[in-house]
Amino acid sequence: MALLLLALLAVTTAALRAAALGDGTGPTDVPYVEAFLGRKPPEPQQWNTFLRENLEPDLAPWRARAPLRTAEVVRQFEAFKEFYKGPAALQLVLIYNNTVYWLDRPDPNGPEPDMTWASMYIVKLHRKLTAALQSGRVQLPNCLFIYVTDDNVFRFGDPRRNQTAPHFALMKAVGVPGGGADLDILLPQMRDVSDSLHMVPWPLKTDLAFFRGVPTCTGKWIERYGYLDSCSRVVLSYYTDRDTKAGNGTVLDVAITEPFQYRAAENSSVAYLPPVKPAVPIPQWSRYKWLLNLEGVVAAYRLSQLMTVNSLVLFQRVPYIEYFYRSIQPWQHYVPFWNATGTDGQLRGMDDVYDVVRELRRLDAQEPAKIQQIIANAQTFAARFLTNHMRIAYYKAALEQYKSLFPDMDAYIAQTLLPELGAKGWRI
Ligand SMILES: *[C@@H]1O[C@H](CO)[C@@H](O)[C@H](O)[C@H]1NC(C)=O
Ligand SMILES: *[C@@H]1O[C@H](CO)[C@@H](O)[C@H](O)[C@H]1NC(C)=O
Ligand SMILES: *[C@@H]1O[C@H](CO)[C@@H](O)[C@H](O)[C@H]1NC(C)=O
Ligand SMILES: *[C@@H]1O[C@H](CO)[C@@H](O)[C@H](O)[C@H]1NC(C)=O
Ligand SMILES: *[C@@H]1O[C@H](CO)[C@@H](O)[C@H](O)[C@H]1NC(C)=O
Repeated sequence: MALLLLALLAVTTAALRAAALGDGTGPTDVPYVEAFLGRKPPEPQQWNTFLRENLEPDLAPWRARAPLRTAEVVRQFEAFKEFYKGPAALQLVLIYNNTVYWLDRPDPNGPEPDMTWASMYIVKLHRKLTAALQSGRVQLPNCLFIYVTDDNVFRFGDPRRNQTAPHFALMKAVGVPGGGADLDILLPQMRDVSDSLHMVPWPLKTDLAFFRGVPTCTGKWIERYGYLDSCSRVVLSYYTDRDTKAGNGTVLDVAITEPFQYRAAENSSVAYLPPVKPAVPIPQWSRYKWLLNLEGVVAAYRLSQLMTVNSLVLFQRVPYIEYFYRSIQPWQHYVPFWNATGTDGQLRGMDDVYDVVRELRRLDAQEPAKIQQIIANAQTFAARFLTNHMRIAYYKAALEQYKSLFPDMDAYIAQTLLPELGAKGWRI
C-alpha cells in the first residue's frame, strides 16, 4: 500500500512538471478554458432520481434485513480486520456532534489524518468533509460506520461473507462470477474530483483517442483474450507505437507513464514493450476529440474528471462501478468499447476501439449533433452531480439513510461507545 501511495505521489509530481514545461505530446499551443462550477445544487427531483438510481440499490438488501444492531458494525469491522491489515484503507468512523473521528487511527486525538497511517482518500475526505461541517453548510447525523478506501479487489461486500452490518466503500465489483451482487454501499471518492469544466473549441481538437496513465489493470481479461498480460493501457499504448512507426498513427495516442513490469514471457499481447511518456494533466486532454477511460486496478477514478471535458469519453467496459455509474448510459453519456461482440455474434478483439472511432468520425461528419449531444449530457451530468459539493451531499444522504437502519445507534454511541473511547483516552 505504501509503495502504491508513493507511486501515486510520483505520478502527481510528474503531471505537474508536464503542465509547467509542456509535455511534447501534442498541440500544446491550443488554448483551453477552465470554467469553475460553484455550488449550485440540482433540482430536488433530479437529485432524488440520482439517489434512487445509485444509493437505493445499495441500501435495498440492508433495508430487507433491518432493523440492524450497531454492535454488529463493530463486530463486522473486527472481522474485516482479521483478513485486511492496516488502518490506511479500512477505518471505523464516528461522526459525533458534526465532527469526524477515525477510531482505528494509531494516535487518538492526533492531528488531521496524514499518509503515515491514512490513505490519500481518507486524507482528502477528512479535509473536505471537515471544512463543510465547520462552515455550518452541512449537518451530519451522529453515526458509526465502516469506511473502506481500498480498491476493493478483495470484495469486502462479497455476499458469501457473513455480513451482519453494512459498510461503505468507494468501488465494488459487478457481474463478476460467484456470489451475486456485492453488498457494499458506495460513497464518492474525494481525491480525484474536478469542480471545473474544461473546453477547447471542437474544430481545434486533435482527432485522436487520447490516454496517459500508469500501466495498471484489473487482470480480468486473461481468459477472454487469451494472453496472460491482457492489459488495455499497455496494449493500446503498443498499438499506438506500432501504428506510428508504420506511418499510420491516425487513431490512437495512448501511452503509459511508467514501465510495464508484467509482460508475459510467452504469448504476450504485445510484440514489444511500448515507450513510456510523460503524464498529461486531464484539463489538457481537452485538446483531443476522444478520451479513453481505461481500467486501472479496478475501474479508474478518473471517469468523472474526463466527463468535465467537452470531448467524447470512450468507456472501456469493466466489471467494477463507482457510486454514480448506474445513472450514466452508453451512447447517452459515453461510448463503450472492449469486450465487445460484433453484429455477427463473434467476440471482438482488443482492437475493437479502431472500429468505434471510425463510427464516431462518421457521425462527427454526418450527424455532428449526435456527438455533441453525448458530450453535453456528460458535462451536464458532471456539473450537476459530481462536484465536491454534491459528493458531500451524497455522504449526507447516504449516512442519514444508513443510520435509519439502526434504531439503537444513538443509544449505542452514548451508552457503550463513548464510555469505551473515554477509557481509551479519546477526548470526544
Ligand atoms: C458540540 O460542538 C459545539 C461546537 O463545537 C460545542 O459547543 C458543544 O459543546 C458540543 N456538544 C457536545 C454534546 O459535545
Ligand atoms: C458463515 O456463518 C456460518 C454459520 O455461522 C458458518 O457455517 C460459515 O462457515 C460462515 N462462513 C464464512 C465465510 O465465514
Ligand atoms: C497500421 O499498420 C500496422 C502495421 O501494418 C497494422 O498492424 C495496423 O493495423 C495499422 N493500423 C491502422 C489504424 O490502420
Ligand atoms: C501459448 O500459446 C500456445 C499455442 O496456443 C499454447 O500451446 C501455450 O500453452 C501458450 N502458452 C502460455 C504460457 O499461455
Ligand atoms: C464480457 O462481456 C460479457 C457479455 O458480452 C459478459 O458476460 C462478461 O462478464 C464480460 N466480462 C467481464 C470480465 O466483464
